[in-house]
Amino acid sequence: MNGEILISSKVLVTGGAGFIGSNIIEKLLKQDNFVVCLDNLATGKMSNIEAFTNNKNFRFINGDIRDIKTCEKACKGIDIVLHQAALGSVPRSIKDPVTTNQVNIDGFINMLIAARDNKVKRFVYASSSSVYGDSKELPKHENKIGNPLSPYAVTKSVNELYAKVFGNLYGMETIGLRYFNVFGKNQDPDGAYAAVFPKFISTLIKHKAPVIFGDGTQSRDFTYIANVVQANELAATTSNPDAINTVFNIAYGKSISLNEITSELIKVLSDFDSKINEINPVYGPLRQGDIKDSLASIDKAKRLLGYMPAYNVHDGLKLAVKWYFDCLK
Ligand SMILES: NC(=O)c1ccc[n+]([C@@H]2O[C@H](COP(=O)([O-])OP(=O)(O)OC[C@H]3O[C@@H](n4cnc5c(N)ncnc54)[C@H](O)[C@@H]3O)[C@@H](O)[C@H]2O)c1
Repeated sequence: MNGEILISSKVLVTGGAGFIGSNIIEKLLKQDNFVVCLDNLATGKMSNIEAFTNNKNFRFINGDIRDIKTCEKACKGIDIVLHQAALGSVPRSIKDPVTTNQVNIDGFINMLIAARDNKVKRFVYASSSSVYGDSKELPKHENKIGNPLSPYAVTKSVNELYAKVFGNLYGMETIGLRYFNVFGKNQDPDGAYAAVFPKFISTLIKHKAPVIFGDGTQSRDFTYIANVVQANELAATTSNPDAINTVFNIAYGKSISLNEITSELIKVLSDFDSKINEINPVYGPLRQGDIKDSLASIDKAKRLLGYMPAYNVHDGLKLAVKWYFDCLK
């Protein structure tokens, strides 16, 4: 381990058939790691990991993190856990808080216990910008969170509390990564709970108008997937004691409004299909539980992890759009 690139390690990626997990696995397999993917395919897809199934360094466990035995089995012989499995989406958690709680909290503790029992060296986990809740401070700094606005946000806050307690009680090394609106290849564009970015791309490719909830002035720190993969590797390999048992914002560090990102999507997609240039977004009511503005300070991740996001939203958007266009057309 060299504090930057994760090589020749035994890594468990939970939620590895999902958007972020599958991108992490792709990079880790190129770097000679042995990777176990634990996923119950609740929202993930076999198509995201199909390309790895013939790789001798890859193993897929079709299982549920709500089952402690499955977690224990998956953690056997593992050096590093990159825990991505969770039920995402604020609206899903408002509709069904019980299942979100079971997966995101019960499943999280199961994974902590399994990692502890198997003497895993580092437990890196996906937290979320949603923990900032009603805090008005911009940019968001790690030490100042607000009140959660949704059950999903509660689960991510509770994850952070448990990780800290397990670090203190059992001497585990945990690192939480608060992702800010990640986008890129393999992110599911379909279904009621799809994230805004892939949903808008797939809607526009079908020559339909994307629906912006609210007036579109709300802003997000959209983060390209490669930056998130980099952050996971840094968290897995850092030897900086100040980085252990703490949390980091993982974002690009600039925000853009939904109106602006939609215009840019339309512009970039029009290079592939000129008809898309004629489409205008339509506006709907604001959604419950959504944050108005989101912008991260990434100073702490830069300072303690050496995080240096390589892709801004514009470069990432071009790469993501090309991938969706090739896949969806
Ligand atoms: N995408 C984002 O913008 C974003 C932002 C903040 C935080 N996050 C967090 O990052 C992580 C990954 O998110 P993603 O965008 O890749 O979502 P995703 O839905 O694509 O991936 C989540 C994966 O977890 C799996 N999973 C769900 N329940 C499970 C269970 N009970 N047992 C085993 N596997 C289960 C799903 O099948 C899926 O493959 C999540 O923890 C999410 O909360 C994502």
